[in-house]
Amino acid sequence: MNVGILGTGNLATALGRAWAAAGHRILVTGRDAEHAREAARRIGSAAEAVAAAELARRADVVVIAVAWEGLEAAVELIAGPSLVGKTVIDCTNPVDFTTGAHKTESGSAAETVARVAPGAHVVKALHLFAGASWPSTAIPREAPVVAICGDEQSSLETAARLIADLGAHSAVVGGLASARQAEETAGFVMRVVAAGFNPKLAVPDVDPALLARAQEPQPAG
Ligand SMILES: NC(=O)c1ccc[n+]([C@@H]2O[C@H](COP(=O)([O-])OP(=O)(O)OC[C@H]3O[C@@H](n4cnc5c(N)ncnc54)[C@H](OP(=O)(O)O)[C@@H]3O)[C@@H](O)[C@H]2O)c1
Repeated sequence: MNVGILGTGNLATALGRAWAAAGHRILVTGRDAEHAREAARRIGSAAEAVAAAELARRADVVVIAVAWEGLEAAVELIAGPSLVGKTVIDCTNPVDFTTGAHKTESGSAAETVARVAPGAHVVKALHLFAGASWPSTAIPREAPVVAICGDEQSSLETAARLIADLGAHSAVVGGLASARQAEETAGFVMRVVAAGFNPKLAVPDVDPALLARAQEPQPAG
């Protein structure tokens, strides 16, 4: 796939490298052409820096990895007819890293993307794990699970394919209206870390297969 990355920082580079290693072609753009060239250089030979309009036109899927404060301005760079019907994966964290609080009173970063780029098929994903997590080398059963939400089945499937290329499972947790909850989860994780604990240990260990078996009707007698 041609994976277009809007963003030139740490997450853009980490995801770009991981997807390049999985065989994808990476297009990078941002508000600063020199930063985009530098990000493409850090990703490697499968990457090229392109203008925003070219990224919107050529990318099969667009991944957004910019600071929340710059999200609207950044999406405006690529918004337009080329994004209509295209999968756009929003990885931004609109969360205050010191308090864990969501930075908006309502809505979500992902819904902001959908508003600024009407017609784009927005999926919220990949905001919760550090870029350095990818690609995961965990054994398949223990691979990370990336919660994703979005309204279009084909875009959820596209996101799931890219997440599988990172070595992770994906779990659809709702439509785009659920994005705020997914974003709030990043704040929850940060609060548990700030309290001195591993957030992995702050959620119950629930095996859905065992749960389903326990709920099966028991044979009479
Ligand atoms: N790093 C991670 O491991 C990680 C993991 C999950 C989610 N995230 C989320 O991904 C996003 C990017 O994180 P990062 O760590 O890659 O940050 P970063 O290294 O600081 O890069 C920030 C990116 O946002 C752009 N940007 C900042 N302000 C902007 C503005 N006002 N207008 C347009 N663009 C602007 C920067 O462009 P310039 O180069 O021009 O400044 C740069 O491309 C954040 O929302 C973060 O919470 C990060």
